[in-house]
Amino acid sequence: MHTKRFLREQSFKKVRHQTATLLPNRLHPGSRRFRIAKTLSQPARRFSAVCAPAGEMALRESVSVLTSSGKGPFMQTVQLGKSSLTASRLAYGCWRIAGTGEAAKVTPEAEAGGRKAVAAAFEMGYTLFDLADIYCEGVCERIFGQALKEVSSMRKRVLIATKCGIRKKGDPNPDSPYRYDFSAEHVVRSCEQSLKRLGVETIDLYQLHRPDYLGDPEEVADAFSKLKKSGKAREFGLSNARPSQVDALQTACPMPLLVNQVEISLARLDCFHDGTLDQCLMEKITPMAWSPLAGGRLADNGPIDLQTPDHAHRIHVREILDLVARERGVTRSVAALAWLLKHPAKIIPIVGSTHPERIRDAINATEIELTRDEWYRLMEAACGQRLP
Ligand SMILES: NC(=O)c1ccc[n+]([C@@H]2O[C@H](COP(=O)([O-])OP(=O)(O)OC[C@H]3O[C@@H](n4cnc5c(N)ncnc54)[C@H](OP(=O)(O)O)[C@@H]3O)[C@@H](O)[C@H]2O)c1
Repeated sequence: MHTKRFLREQSFKKVRHQTATLLPNRLHPGSRRFRIAKTLSQPARRFSAVCAPAGEMALRESVSVLTSSGKGPFMQTVQLGKSSLTASRLAYGCWRIAGTGEAAKVTPEAEAGGRKAVAAAFEMGYTLFDLADIYCEGVCERIFGQALKEVSSMRKRVLIATKCGIRKKGDPNPDSPYRYDFSAEHVVRSCEQSLKRLGVETIDLYQLHRPDYLGDPEEVADAFSKLKKSGKAREFGLSNARPSQVDALQTACPMPLLVNQVEISLARLDCFHDGTLDQCLMEKITPMAWSPLAGGRLADNGPIDLQTPDHAHRIHVREILDLVARERGVTRSVAALAWLLKHPAKIIPIVGSTHPERIRDAINATEIELTRDEWYRLMEAACGQRLP
């Protein structure tokens, strides 16, 4: 005779298995599999919250990316590079959560707003959070760490990505210039300082922020190996790196580099032409798109600076985005994010808004898939001319 508890656990296990099977990286929102997966989400999520051992990667299970309220748009998942890590299809970027770039100007209200944005993103199903040691001089990592403490079970269900390698003017000496530093000593020390500010024992994804002209791949590989061995960082990636720089570091590194975080949007097309996205496809590196709304310029109500020489072009891109958005019944921002999601390299856009309703709206982009016609209409507008 089975106890009630045993039967309940068996039933949760079944639901979890079904949910995991039913949620590959992309399900068509109109499909039967999608509807079943959505229905199964609640018990499976509760099972995960109750039973996932601390520190264990609940993230590997698709259940962890369901919106915890069960309402609102449905977040999908994606595999990070060649790893077994699964992240939400959109990342949440913490660059702006302190409301300013200067630590001295951060107010308690701004900190509370930052924690609220982070908690809202988690609640809505974001499980990949992007930070950097220099974001508001370390304050963003600290705010994120506080949010982790406030929201129970958040740590074991999210992937923390942060970066190092940019050193601001005056660090450490008053006459030190703004520069990049990939020395092993700086990389290891920066990681340790980030861990302290975040209040965690491990960083899930450690990225080098901007290529260091003096960077030595062998030295970086040593630093990464030390961090991995000591458990201070689990996986590694790059940011703003050209394909040749990724190759140079990958040749020296024993571990696969999982991501290249680069600027991609309808206002920044370089990655389509400089081999970055081709390399991501070939090497199974995940491209993460920073400023996917061009820092707000492509967003609904985003500013247009009439003084900029190309303002007419920018207005045109927004008009075509509005056309697509209207046809699809979504906001302009969602159409711009959907354009990134369509790429076969599985670009992860990093959502940068600090407003919970905009953070939620962004998820609607994962629920539509642009047609080739829509995608190329937008590409043509972004290029400013008929494609050759
Ligand atoms: N690796 C790198 O070198 C690098 C560089 C830059 C950024 N990043 C990463 O990328 C993340 C995203 O960058 P980002 O913040 O520039 O992204 P973004 O999404 O292009 O821009 C966000 C800005 O747009 C505004 N915005 C969003 N939706 C809006 C709307 N509907 N109407 C009006 N304004 C709107 C936001 O304001 P509200 O907050 O008011 O919504 C915010 O100021 C950062 O957080 C960071 O993690 C990385």
